[in-house]
Amino acid sequence: MKNTIGAVLFGTALVAAAPSASRRDVDTRFPYTGPAIPVGDWVDPTVNGNGKGFPRLVEAPAVKPKTSNPTNNVNVISLAYVPGGMHIHYQTPFGLGAAPQVQWGTHQDNLNNIAVGQSNTYARTPPCSLAPVTQCSEHFHEVQITGLKPNTKYWYRIPAANGTTESQTLSFRTAHAPGDRSEFTVAVLNDMGYTNAHGTHKYLGNAADDGLAFAWHGGDISYADDWYSGILPCEDSWPVCYNGSSTRLPGGPPYPAEYLNAPLPAGEVPNQGGPQGGDMSVLYESNWDLWQQWMSDITTKVPYMVLPGNHEAACAEFDGGNNTLTAYLNNDKANSSAPKSALNYYSCPESQRNFTTFQHRFRMPGVESGGVGNFWYSFDYGLAHFVSIDTETDFAYSPEWPFVRDIKGNETLPTESQTFITDSGPFGRIDGNNWKDNKAYEQYQWLAKDLAKVDRTKTPWIFINGHRPMYSSQTASYQGNVRNAFEALMLEYGVDAYFAGHIHWYERLFPLGRNGTIDTASIKDNNTYYTNEGKSMVHVINGMAGNIESHSTLDADQPVLNITAVLNQRDYGFSKLKITSTSATWSFTKGADGSVGDKLTLLKRNK
Ligand SMILES: *[C@@H]1O[C@H](CO)[C@@H](O)[C@H](O)[C@H]1NC(C)=O
Ligand SMILES: *[C@@H]1O[C@H](CO)[C@@H](O)[C@H](O)[C@H]1NC(C)=O
Ligand SMILES: *[C@@H]1O[C@H](CO)[C@@H](O)[C@H](O)[C@H]1NC(C)=O
Ligand SMILES: *[C@@H]1O[C@H](CO)[C@@H](O)[C@H](O)[C@H]1NC(C)=O
Ligand SMILES: *[C@@H]1O[C@H](CO)[C@@H](O)[C@H](O)[C@H]1NC(C)=O
Ligand SMILES: *[C@@H]1O[C@H](CO)[C@@H](O)[C@H](O)[C@H]1NC(C)=O
Ligand SMILES: *[C@@H]1O[C@H](CO)[C@@H](O)[C@H](O)[C@H]1NC(C)=O
Ligand SMILES: *[C@@H]1O[C@H](CO)[C@@H](O)[C@H](O)[C@H]1NC(C)=O
Ligand SMILES: *[C@@H]1O[C@H](CO)[C@@H](O)[C@H](O)[C@H]1NC(C)=O
Repeated sequence: MKNTIGAVLFGTALVAAAPSASRRDVDTRFPYTGPAIPVGDWVDPTVNGNGKGFPRLVEAPAVKPKTSNPTNNVNVISLAYVPGGMHIHYQTPFGLGAAPQVQWGTHQDNLNNIAVGQSNTYARTPPCSLAPVTQCSEHFHEVQITGLKPNTKYWYRIPAANGTTESQTLSFRTAHAPGDRSEFTVAVLNDMGYTNAHGTHKYLGNAADDGLAFAWHGGDISYADDWYSGILPCEDSWPVCYNGSSTRLPGGPPYPAEYLNAPLPAGEVPNQGGPQGGDMSVLYESNWDLWQQWMSDITTKVPYMVLPGNHEAACAEFDGGNNTLTAYLNNDKANSSAPKSALNYYSCPESQRNFTTFQHRFRMPGVESGGVGNFWYSFDYGLAHFVSIDTETDFAYSPEWPFVRDIKGNETLPTESQTFITDSGPFGRIDGNNWKDNKAYEQYQWLAKDLAKVDRTKTPWIFINGHRPMYSSQTASYQGNVRNAFEALMLEYGVDAYFAGHIHWYERLFPLGRNGTIDTASIKDNNTYYTNEGKSMVHVINGMAGNIESHSTLDADQPVLNITAVLNQRDYGFSKLKITSTSATWSFTKGADGSVGDKLTLLKRNK
């Protein structure tokens, strides 16, 4: 599939990369040998498909262009907290020809201030020159407004530049000042994508309209790396395949019309996500574009705080039957097979390695909180200190790991075949390259310092969100590694709750002390626990926002462990957390109808 388009493409991509590759750091010692543009569709492996498209795979851009043939456009706008203000991130297919700007003010009709920022880009595959202007992002603009008053509504607008249309006048509300005693509600969600997540999106949007403070998405964001699902053969253990036989839609029937009234273009097989297939783009970057544009109604209104999950690491995680993906990415052969799975770090296009996309498409307050980028950071909001951690890289035996773990003997860098497709990081320092020692990691050292600084008289609550759980009835070895890295620190500093996802279900655990001991004294009743700072924490696995891979289920012969208080393997949705000075109430909101699937109240124990 190396054709003329491919050659043109690479030329364009290299030119685009030249001005700035500031946040992309990938190794290129071995050549990429796959197709110029990997497309997960054997029937029509071209960038724009067969041209008929799927209605669901076109999402309105954040700004509606004023002409029918725009040459540039603001397709995504996404807010995030910075101390004392707001970060406004926006995306366009082409450069702006000037530093990015945001006009703002406290009155809708008087945006008399201008904030100026900076832009980044990376050589994405394919470049936006090959895609519709309103469906593609390649330039990423970062503008901050600081020195704002807490808990105050501000209005903002992105001015036109180099062909873009000026945005509507939008608004946000700044965070409550640390120590402000008033109550507020946040949304916590994990493992979303845009397939099976219709209900989550709808009720999250309603919550954003109803005064939600912010949304906190614990990784596995767009499921972009499932672009190749449609070219893997079906297997019992993997419903995501070109027959899509066991994927499920939100809440079961009746299905939203948009899933059903979208006939497949002639010749296409139903591939993923629904009975009609075609619910997922066959291009990695398009999945990102679609998900971000779909979420604009939320991310333009409330800060959308993200952290890394395994689906953000690279273009793929593993191969399927007959090693179809190895044949495609390593050998540039479609419809083929390879004798063994030989995916490695160099199998993905350069721009699809080492969390590159994740680092460009969001901008979290890592630097402002002494952390690192979008990987680990913290922020205060009124009564609570919120901490995002990276459970994918940057701790001992992390699920994705740095080259230093691949090397043998006296090597300083791994050979091609010693690498893995998801090799990533480190994003922080590892003292002495001692990757087996948690305390050598910058992330660990930062977390200890960050938690030690918390003033509990101002922020009595501490909540931490990481992608992977420490405990679950679905046991796995990574859980022990996450515990070894972080559990003792979190208990020592009296963290109230640890939220995670990764497992695609809702599972609420009892308050747990070190090594999974159940703190029975802190259980008031089935839906009420006392906090027990320094002794136990509540754990919730909240991985049911949606996503193409459907629900996780416990095998018939696997027991529900006694640490598990509630297990829901059926409903999609997200959770809301309402925080007051004496209680924190967690409620699972079902995507099917917005009803409450589980409720837990945490009470501050009087000391
Ligand atoms: C793959 O095989 C199918 C069926 O034989 C054929 O229709 C299609 O053109 C092939 N695709 C490619 C990219 O070779
Ligand atoms: C302005 O937009 C055009 C596409 O409409 C693009 O080709 C050009 O590079 C952009 N200019 C700058 C300075 O980025
Ligand atoms: C898809 O599913 C149908 C019906 O279950 C089956 O007949 C067919 O062989 C499957 N095709 C592939 C390529 O797995
Ligand atoms: C692997 O390829 C063989 C030979 O083409 C085929 O018979 C078999 O069904 C394939 N297996 C899978 C899991 O697709
Ligand atoms: C590294 O070790 C190999 C044997 O394991 C040896 O042949 C080679 O000379 C060593 N290289 C260096 C630079 O020490
Ligand atoms: C990933 O990027 C980081 C910097 O952001 C760099 O330190 C690290 O070496 C890179 N790792 C790999 C495996 O590319
Ligand atoms: C937890 O378990 C580990 C390994 O089983 C053990 O080494 C450690 O002492 C235990 N810690 C506590 C506090 O019980
Ligand atoms: C508490 O939960 C247990 C187990 O799910 C159940 O058997 C019991 O009836 C519940 N108690 C109350 C008061 O709801
Ligand atoms: C829970 O089960 C573990 C063994 O898996 C056991 O050691 C522990 O005592 C049980 N805890 C309670 C409170 O039943």
